[in-house]
Amino acid sequence: MKVIIRDNAREGGLWAAHYIASRIREKAARTDKPFVLGLPTGSTPLNTYAELVRMVKAGEISFKNVISFNMDEYAGLPVEHPESYHSFMFKNLFDHIDEPLENIHILNGNAADPAAECAAYERAIEQAGGIDLFLGGIGEDGHIAFNEPFSPLTSRTRLVTLTQDTREVNSRFFGGDPEAVPAQAMSVGVATVMDAREVVILAFGSKKARALASAIEGPMSHYNTVSALQNHPAGIIVCDEAAIGEVKVNSYRYFKAVEAAENRL
Ligand code: PGA
Repeated sequence: MKVIIRDNAREGGLWAAHYIASRIREKAARTDKPFVLGLPTGSTPLNTYAELVRMVKAGEISFKNVISFNMDEYAGLPVEHPESYHSFMFKNLFDHIDEPLENIHILNGNAADPAAECAAYERAIEQAGGIDLFLGGIGEDGHIAFNEPFSPLTSRTRLVTLTQDTREVNSRFFGGDPEAVPAQAMSVGVATVMDAREVVILAFGSKKARALASAIEGPMSHYNTVSALQNHPAGIIVCDEAAIGEVKVNSYRYFKAVEAAENRL
């Protein structure tokens, strides 16, 4: 894996936006096939989304030939709820870019048959040609999408139960009450993310430092599901100085040296 370290979350978010834009342009230059993008919610991608919106408005990039699949959605929360991931995505990205509505995929957390909804989502990804780039964040417990500790690294899209820790962390969006956070969600699996041709994981702030260090230096384990990135042929972590703070000094130097060497090529 590659680790890109920036001074702060804003710089890291900008790096990721420009990287995504460069990948969309690169594919458009060689084929008419759409670019298939996996997307997260949360506080982490906000700078990236703001920069992508700016680039679309400035005519620097277009999402007209982009198909997107979101990582997850709360189960049983009305779509129009301000904290649904549908609401989040339209407010922070889709309302401001030129991605056609029919290209946007978000799991229906209110589906009568969750297993059928999740299986159809996996099929839709396959029919789109697989995901070119999956962007993700991580939880303080190392979760990727809502793949909480002890989710199989082979997991696919399914209904999951959130840990108490995650409900407490997310309660900041639900009036501070963990019980108001839905108990379940539908989420792509670890393997769904790892099947993407590229995976870019964002981690900012000291609260993510332990999970990030264990994902980078610890064993690949279902205890920290983002550690599956160790086996991905094209995995990139984009973090800030605070989030990388718990790795060994030599690991930090290594990542900085690799980036500097590649910039000189
Ligand atoms: P955050 O959430 O971006 O709000 O920190 C990330 C996550 O839980 O995956």
